[in-house]
Formats: sequence, structure tokens, C-alpha cells
Amino acid sequence: MNRLSAMNDRVAADLAADDRSRGLVHAPVAMDRPFRYFEELFPLRGAILPRADAVSDAPELSLDGTWEFRLSDTADAAVDFIGDAAPTGESWGSIPVPAHWQLQGHGAPAYTNRRYPFPVDPPYVPHENPTGDYRRTFRVPADWQVERVLLRFDGVDSLAKIWLNGTEVGVISGSRLRSEFDVTDLLRRDAENVLAVRVHQWSSGSYLEDQDMWWLSGIFRSVTLLGRPAAAIHDHFVHADYDTLRGEGVLRVESSTPARVIIPELDVDTASGAEVRIPVQPWSADEPRLYDGELVSDGERVQLRIGFRRVEVVDGVLLANGRPLLFRGTNRHDFDPDTGRTVSMERMRHDVEMMKRHNINAVRTSHYPPQAAFLRLCDELGLWVIDECDFETHGFFPVDWFHKLAGNPAEDVRWRDALVDRMQRLVERDKNHPSVVMWSLGNECGTGENLGAMARWAKERDPSRLLHYERDWSCEHVDVYSRMYTTHRDLELIGQRQEPPFPDADLDARRRAMPFLLCEYVHSMGNGPGGLAEYQEIFERYPRIAGGFTWEWFDHGLRQVTAAGETFFAYGGDFGEDRHDGNFIADGIVFPDGTPSPGLHELKKVFEPVRITVSSGEVVVRNHYDATDLSHLAFRWSVADDGVEVAAGDLPLPHTPAGESARLPLALDVPDHDPATERVLTVRAVLREPTAWARAGHEVAWGQSVVTERAQPVARLISPVPHGEQVTVGSAILDDTDGGLLSLAGIEVDAPRFDTWRAVIDNDRDFSWEPHETRWREIGLDLPRYRAGAIEVGAEAVVVPGRLGFDGSDLAFDTRLTWSADEAAVSLRVQAQPLGDWDVPLPRFGLRMSLPAAFCDVEWYGPGPEESYADSSRAARLGRWCRTVEEMQTPYLMPQENGNRRHARWLRVASPESVLTITGDPHVDFTARRWTTEDLAAATHPNELRASDRVWLNLDAGQTGLGSGSCGPGALPAQRLLPRSFDYTLTFMVE
Ligand code: GAL
Repeated sequence: MNRLSAMNDRVAADLAADDRSRGLVHAPVAMDRPFRYFEELFPLRGAILPRADAVSDAPELSLDGTWEFRLSDTADAAVDFIGDAAPTGESWGSIPVPAHWQLQGHGAPAYTNRRYPFPVDPPYVPHENPTGDYRRTFRVPADWQVERVLLRFDGVDSLAKIWLNGTEVGVISGSRLRSEFDVTDLLRRDAENVLAVRVHQWSSGSYLEDQDMWWLSGIFRSVTLLGRPAAAIHDHFVHADYDTLRGEGVLRVESSTPARVIIPELDVDTASGAEVRIPVQPWSADEPRLYDGELVSDGERVQLRIGFRRVEVVDGVLLANGRPLLFRGTNRHDFDPDTGRTVSMERMRHDVEMMKRHNINAVRTSHYPPQAAFLRLCDELGLWVIDECDFETHGFFPVDWFHKLAGNPAEDVRWRDALVDRMQRLVERDKNHPSVVMWSLGNECGTGENLGAMARWAKERDPSRLLHYERDWSCEHVDVYSRMYTTHRDLELIGQRQEPPFPDADLDARRRAMPFLLCEYVHSMGNGPGGLAEYQEIFERYPRIAGGFTWEWFDHGLRQVTAAGETFFAYGGDFGEDRHDGNFIADGIVFPDGTPSPGLHELKKVFEPVRITVSSGEVVVRNHYDATDLSHLAFRWSVADDGVEVAAGDLPLPHTPAGESARLPLALDVPDHDPATERVLTVRAVLREPTAWARAGHEVAWGQSVVTERAQPVARLISPVPHGEQVTVGSAILDDTDGGLLSLAGIEVDAPRFDTWRAVIDNDRDFSWEPHETRWREIGLDLPRYRAGAIEVGAEAVVVPGRLGFDGSDLAFDTRLTWSADEAAVSLRVQAQPLGDWDVPLPRFGLRMSLPAAFCDVEWYGPGPEESYADSSRAARLGRWCRTVEEMQTPYLMPQENGNRRHARWLRVASPESVLTITGDPHVDFTARRWTTEDLAAATHPNELRASDRVWLNLDAGQTGLGSGSCGPGALPAQRLLPRSFDYTLTFMVE
């Protein structure tokens, strides 16, 4: 036994002593009915003690590849596949490893959020327990000069029994945790070896692994054979502190075998265990400075990638290397739309690079340790990491077991060994990553003393890192106060350390002195989130708040192809599950195929590490990086008239260290302004040099402001001309009974009609924290009825008074439509006055019209190019944008309102023959699509939407903001579209 594992034993003994002093006894596993090995509370058998992940020159043999495989409905199939004789029979086929069997044609995925998909009867699991038998043969390479051989499983869901050459090796549990066995004595060195694994979908561990994700089983991470030479380095622990006062790294590398620590760049060549102090640059997510070296024993060379950093709490503020640390974070599950939680190196690199390009500086590995290689990427490219234990028991919450109750695994002492083991496997594997700055005990497991045991073990083993756990609001066992989905208002109170007290005064005082973070916020289900910028403003206002982690990175949609060959991303229910949580699994800011959703563009803007504030006289640049100055960025300005650039140049910036600002007076050399246009000044910060995650010229931040507004043209109105049953107003022909538009310069248009409905977004739905859908439907906003009054044909305009009502409701709007025209264009002034006692914001208010299908190219001048809403509009910049109608749709996995372009100054919709220009005064929100809102709402997946023979245009005064009500607060009051008087004018011009 090595020194490190001796330490494990010592901590275990301390825990036991601690239990005795509190009157707790490690009860024998006393279950009143017979149980199977996979139902034991701590079923692990045979594995060696966990140790550090390491890259070394010791030989390895990957056992990934094609294995023989059979799936049985229960755990009762004969154990007839572990010996030398190859199994026969129809039930056997093959499967790739690593993979989930449900994604390889065996069984089907199933999705529940927190509900266990089996009776809550821990630790028993159903008799129907799909069980996969795996088998493969291998030879140990003849040239291996090794003393011992280990067999490693990086992830098996949920429990496996393993045999080598017919002899049981052990049992592993803890799906996203690494397990290793010493198989030296079972191996045949000169003959074929038979490795057999039986994997059960359900086990006692399933009760501890109730994360909100697909239930997917099997050997889903790699299997490796590790040759261990004599004098190999079994385990090592890098302690690389950064002394902020002296600017020195303090390095000590513990090794289970005596070894040299060699870091050429720092001139370090010292014995393991010895401490050295050297001047270094610290590691941070901004500047992930790694010093490469080796730990060399007589038998092995282990790669060292050392980042020196100190993350600590000083006076209630989270500091990294002596400066306040603000997490601009996201929660990430391992996910791939084709392979589930089996993720390739390319996919992980894609994730990390994309996070960096979107100004994300931190990741919480919700809700289990990721593949080990992911953390290597975080070290290298620079992300702060909260590494979370594979532990969630959310399904006990609905049955009221959650808090300090017997039976709740976080409290029931009989689960303790299994839980401390999970924590040990997390910490031991990942302890050498500079990116990992906090250990998280798990997610949503209620409260209980076992969390204390996990925390005490981790603190003793690794005092350099902080502890995190959200669901115990006493914060008894952790170093930071963490909550999820807190409202903006409550967050302000927390920022001021004025939150409501915790009942226990001592714990309250301790908690109030802690820094705070939001481990989850801005739930990105469907169209959203809204309110991100307002959170960021609060984060930046209060030193106590260390930022947050958005929920979440990916939509977990599984790619499927219909019989007709159409691709879509499946969510809960698409695999015929009896009980499921639908599209609640599609709540990311990245689509399953890795493309950004509009939410990610918004997040990039809000997370900008440089804030550029532009006014006509000056530009203020504030450096929000944690560590770095701005010398890696070039600042470029441009002036554009109605989106057409008329002048541009570079902006020299003085040295601006982290946390400081620079003010730059502006005296730009620009041509005269055309008064018919709007003049806008934009300043962009771009990378001067390529980085590991972006090319040179990549835009990090921008600021913009309108310098001169467009002058209003003076129109000379022409008179309406009545003829027969119609009235002509310029190029428009109206019906003289109800004022309906019959045609516009010869284009056959569907008369604009009032529209108050949107295809409800997930945040509007009944499960939302601020649901609106039911009330909206009660009022009848989905069925607006318009009745025109007597039209008045005047000398300069046609006025159509009217009333907009809703089936079954006395709420209404008094309306007035005024048509007028000059030589060039037709104008429609829209006025509406609410009537009655409105008690709810409106989904939208505006006009809907349709054009022939040929009008499919859209150009607009206004914020863009992505969709934007009242509370998600920071990423949209003023410019001139072109999209086809198809390109203006956002394919949320569950179709819902999307594609709104806010505050357009003008838009042009073009067919091959003509162009319709529509100008909004004040600016108008618009949506263009090939289907109606009702078609959009009726579809369950985007591939069901069929183009009609019309293009549907919404020209709106606005919509209610998005919020993140599907799990969190709804749109903030200022961003709700309250019934009020509306008054805006649309001008139509056909060329
Ligand atoms: C949280 C949970 C996440 C996810 C989210 C809703 O409570 O920690 O795993 O379920 O809610 O999407």
C-alpha cells in the first residue's frame, strides 16, 4: 500500500470515529428482502484505490473496438460467456465499445428529469433489468516489460461484473467514475485472454444517479489495459500554489514512487516531495500558462502540465491569484446527438473552443466528472472548472425523502461508504488539473450527514480547493454559498449580504460571510433565455457574487431519421416511453449538432470580457478580464450610414490592466452624413494573433451607438379615390366596406390583420414558474376577432375605426387604422387602445399579413442578424442584414415562436419580380415565415413544418420578453408587453 492510499485509510478511520461520536453506527446492510449483488448499497468489489489520471510512457493497450454482445430483458441470463468457448446462438451479436447499447439498436433511450423510471424502493430495482453481456479477447503485447497489469474502465452505466479468463475480477458501480483492477495474476501472457463483462441497466447506484438526462446504459467510455513497469509511478499529486505577494510558484509533487520532478523551462530538477519556489506566471482561464515537465522514476515518465494558481476566499470574496474571480460559466454534460454520453476527443475540443470563442471562462461538469480528457483541454485552453461528483437523488424529492430523513442516501449512514467512495474517485482522478478549482459534492441530493463525510474527506485530502454543493442551504459542509435559478431581486439581496436569514444563527453568519455563485441560471429551454444581461449587471455590481453557470450547454436531442429520410432531434417520448418529461431535455444554448442557438450569441455579448461603451464624443473601454491586460486585442472603429460603411480605422488603446478602464476621445475623419439615413459608430475588439481556440481577427467584444438619427422625410399626401366598392390610396386598393387591403401595387397581399398570439414558447407553458398560456387562452388571445366600423374616406386618408375582441372575453382594444399615400409609398398608421381590466401581459401585439411565396428574400436594416426579443437583444447589432425566409427560422427542437427581428428600421421582402419595402415608425418588430403561427405551434418537431404557398409576415409593436420561466423567473416587468395604447406607422413601397 502506498503513502497516498494509507492516507485514504486514515481518513476513513477518522470518519468512522466521527460517526461514533455522533451516535451513528455503520449498520450492516440490512435489507428485509433478498437482494442481488447489484442491489448492495456499496457493491464495489476488487477495484484498486483510485489514483490520478496520468499520461505516461508506460505501455497501454486500448480494448475499445468491436465486442461480442447480447442483451437480455432481465439479470437472470446464464453466465455462460465468460470462458474460452466463444458464445453461440442467435442472441449474440456485436457492439462497439465505447457506446450505449440503446443507441446501437438494443432497447431504446428513455428520458425523465427527476422521476425514477422504477418504483422508489431502494436499493431494489425492477425484475425487468436490461442486462448486457460483453465479451472480447485480446493478447498482451509481447514486448511489454511490465511488472503489473491494470484493467481500467472509464465509465460503465450503471453496474458491471467483470471476469478475466473465467475468473471474477470484480464489480464496479458509479457510472461516470473510473475503476481499475490489478489483473496481473489472472492474465495469460502468451495466449489469448477472454474479458467478459455483464452490465446491468439498473442497480442500487441508479438511485444515486438520477441526473436530468437520458437513461443510457453500457460500457460508454473506454476500456484500457495498462502495463505497469517495475518502479512505475502509481499515483502522484501536484501541489502548485501561486504566492500572490511574491509572484512565485510553490511546487511540490508527491509521488508514490521516488521520482525526479523535471521542468526544463523553470530549471527545476528536484526530488518528488521536495518544495521549490520559483518566479512564474500564474495559470488563469484568461492566460492558461502551463509549464510542461515530467515526473521520472526508474520505471516511468509521467507527463506534468503544471499551472500555478491560488483560488481562495478572502473577506467573503472569491479570489484567483489575488484578484476577484467572476465565473462567466456554463453547465456542460458529456453529450453527442449520435452517441449520447460517449464523446469523442474532437467533440470535446469543439465544445471547449466554442466556449472560449463565446467568452465563457468557466464550466461546471454537471452532474458528474466528465471524460478525463475534457479536463486536459480545460487546462490547456483555459476554463475554470467546478468538477462535480456523480451523485444526484432528485427522484426522492417528489416522494418527500429529501431532507435529513432516514432512507435519503445523503443522510442514511448505510449509503456512506458508497458516497465517500464516489467522492474519492472524483478527487483522486482529477486532482492534478489546474483548471479544477472547486469540488462539487453532487447535485440535488437533499441534505444529510453523508455530504459532510464526503466534504471532510475531500477537504483533508485536498485543502487547496474549495467545496461546492447547492442543495444544502445551510452551507454547513462547503466554502461557497450556491443557489440555482434565483430571481434578479433575490440575487441583489444576496449581493448585499441581505438575504433572508438561515434559521441557525451560527450557520447563517458563516454563510453570510461566504462568496456566492449561481451554479445554474437562465434556463435555456426552447426560445430563450431572457434576462441574461440583467443578471450580469448584478454579478458585476457586488463583489460577493462570483458569477454563475448558465443552464445549460447542449440540447440533449438524439439525432433520428424518419422513414422519409428527414432528420430531427428526438426528446422525451420520441422513443415510446410511458412516462417522460418531453422536451425538458432540450434546454441548452447549443443545438445537439453543435451549432449555436441565438441564446449563445446573446451570452457571448453579455459575457464580453471587455465592455466598449460608445458615444458620439468618446469610447470607454473597460477591462473585465480576471487577469490579463488588453494588449492581445486590436480595436477597430467603423461608421456606417443605414448599415453601409462610410469610414473605418484603428483605435489605439493605452495599457489597460485587468479591472481598469480607458477613455478615448473621438475625432474621426468621416464624410458628411446623408440625412435620409441613420449614422452608427461601431467599435470592435478583435484578437491580434491566432490563439489555440480562434483565428486572428476573431471578435471578442463590440460597442455601438447611433450618432445621428435619420431625418423624417416630409411627405406630400395624395387623396384617396373611391371607385365602385373600392377605394384607391396611392398604390393600395382597399375594400370600401371594411377597409381591408385588396392589393398593393399589384401584389396580391393578404390584408394585414391584428395578431395577438405567439406560438407559445416553453417559458410561457403551464409548467413554467410564470405560466401565461392558460390565461392567454382563457382570454382568447389565440382567437382575435376584428370588427371594422364605418370607414371614413377623407381628403388625405382613409380611416377605419374598429374593435379587436377575443372569443368569450370582454377584454378588447379600440382600434383605428389610417391609410394614406404620397407619390412613393402607402402608409398605414395603427392605433389601439386597451379596454377592460387586463391582468396579463400580451404575447404580442401587431399585424399579420401574407405575400405570395415568391417573396422569399429578406433584407433589413436594424438589429441583427440573429433573432432578438425585449430581454435578449444585446447580441443584435445595427446593420444591414440579408437572409432568406428559410434562414430566418430557428429550429428549436420543439417548434415554438422564433425568428423575431426587433426594432427594424426598414425591411425589404423580394421576389424575382418586385421588392416590397416596409418602414416602421417607430421601429417595428418583424417575423417572416413560410407557415402560420398556428402551424408552428402544432408541430412537435421542425421537420413536420411544411412550406405553404404564402410568406407570412408579422409587423409588430412588440412581444413579451422571453424570461427563463421554464425553470426560473419569467420576463422582468419592464420587458413584458403590457396592454397599453399602441401607435405605430408602417410605410409600404413596391419597386
Ligand atoms: C436543475 C437541475 C438540472 C436540470 C435543471 C432543469 O434543478 O440541477 O440538472 O434538471 O434543473 O433543466
